Amino acid sequence: MSAATQIVAIDGPAGTGKSSVARALAKRLGFRFLDTGAMYRAATWRALHHGIDLEDRDALVDSTRAMQLELRDEGAGFRVFVDGTEVTDDIRTREVTRTIARLDQIPEVREHLVELQRAYGEAGPTVAEGRDMGTIVFPNASCKIFLDASPEVRAQRRVDQIHRAGGEADYDAILHEIMERDMATRKRKLAPLKRAKGAEFVDTTEMTFEAVLDRLAELAREKLCL
Ligand code: DC
Repeated sequence: MSAATQIVAIDGPAGTGKSSVARALAKRLGFRFLDTGAMYRAATWRALHHGIDLEDRDALVDSTRAMQLELRDEGAGFRVFVDGTEVTDDIRTREVTRTIARLDQIPEVREHLVELQRAYGEAGPTVAEGRDMGTIVFPNASCKIFLDASPEVRAQRRVDQIHRAGGEADYDAILHEIMERDMATRKRKLAPLKRAKGAEFVDTTEMTFEAVLDRLAELAREKLCL
């Protein structure tokens, strides 16, 4: 990565509001936004869509490498296209979420997606969010942030989100799922979730969305000398 590339690398567990705050931050700074979770979701959606045997690692790698992935950050929203088809909503189903771990622990899958992520970051100032932005993908980023919040608050935010979308949600089941996913992501072999060296820790448990956004913008301006 060239020294001049300006990257804000944001990591943290699911449900911290990372994705929306990173997108809003990118908008505020005039940077590009990169949702790397969407890339793992897209690769997983593609494998499911083509009925690929989830035990066949080579086939999963081939499918990921063959994927034509397009991420469009437009005013109205963040849209994802795989092989020319819009999959923005399809990559967020529970089936996809539950299946991602089959792909995200295959080294060649990660290597391919990491390559795409670095190319994206090379193209211009970027706010990138995921699990390994500060540790693996952009270890030289001048601004690294680790976002966290208590599992209870994250579960409640998810319940509120589902209610706003008109759905029904079971708080206890969601809390259980969040805690299981946390443990799995922190303990996994490849790219375990952890605070990168030099990353600023921001606990959003008691913070509103606006307060988190202001804090992140302040950190980015300070670290990137904007
Ligand atoms: O951010 P998300 O919940 O949409 O991410 C979906 C999954 O993708 C997450 O469970 C772990 C995986 N992921 C990863 O392994 N590395 C990343 N940089 C981003 C996501």
